[in-house]
Amino acid sequence: MFTAKVITVSDRSYRGERMDTAGPMVAEMLCDAGYELTERVIVPDEREEIVDALRAAVKEDIALIVTTGGTGFAPRDITPEATMDVVERAVPGIGEAMRYASLQITPRAILSRATAGIAGHSLIVNLPGSPKAAGENLEAVLGALHHGLEMLRGGQADCAVQQNA
Ligand code: MTE
Repeated sequence: MFTAKVITVSDRSYRGERMDTAGPMVAEMLCDAGYELTERVIVPDEREEIVDALRAAVKEDIALIVTTGGTGFAPRDITPEATMDVVERAVPGIGEAMRYASLQITPRAILSRATAGIAGHSLIVNLPGSPKAAGENLEAVLGALHHGLEMLRGGQADCAVQQNA
């Protein structure tokens, strides 16, 4: 069983002005997929605070770190940049797959700048901030993540026999 942590990036949720609905929903999806969830975190749309939260999760050796929010065009949307500050190896396919799947749902899918990458033995994945968008994006990639984590964390994963995993 892999550990997972959800980091909500939202000024308003951080200040308590809006209830965080995306974070709990993403956590529930991950729990249903078999991940062991650690405590959720809410941070404001501040690059340094996002970086600190990501680095803390990497230090905790969390297998899958999922952010929700801050991937769009608003002036304070900075989650992908903070993520790239932390990752050592980018995983562009995850963002590509999320946008490809989401484009079947809405042309606005291209407005998410969500990215993903590897830091230490952790995989970081950005999701958009609305519960609907976060769920649709996670759904698009969730099935493949487990195999990636097996490779990342030293399992004996064999691509040839686990293509449908
Ligand atoms: N992807 C899916 N699947 N469904 C959606 O409704 N909304 C888009 C996009 N991706 C959407 C989506 C919109 S309108 C925006 S602005 C971006 O995600 C970024 O969202 P964020 O700023 O909340 O991170």
